[in-house]
Amino acid sequence: MSARKAIFKVIPNGPLEITGTFTVLDSGGKEISNKGPVYLCRCGGSGNKPFCDGTHSRNGFTG
Ligand code: FES
Repeated sequence: MSARKAIFKVIPNGPLEITGTFTVLDSGGKEISNKGPVYLCRCGGSGNKPFCDGTHSRNGFTG
């Protein structure tokens, strides 16, 4: 079986969606996710970084 490549998709005014095969590491190098979809915060407001917690919908983030 071949591994599916990771796909990064910018959600308008929201997070970065990652699907496929990948590994997300925390700042200490510990694996915190390896399957998708995952949503990474782009607005800087999440209380659960690096993941999106929906704060972007309340803090006026655009992009
Ligand atoms: S993008 Fe969703 S909380 Fe930042």
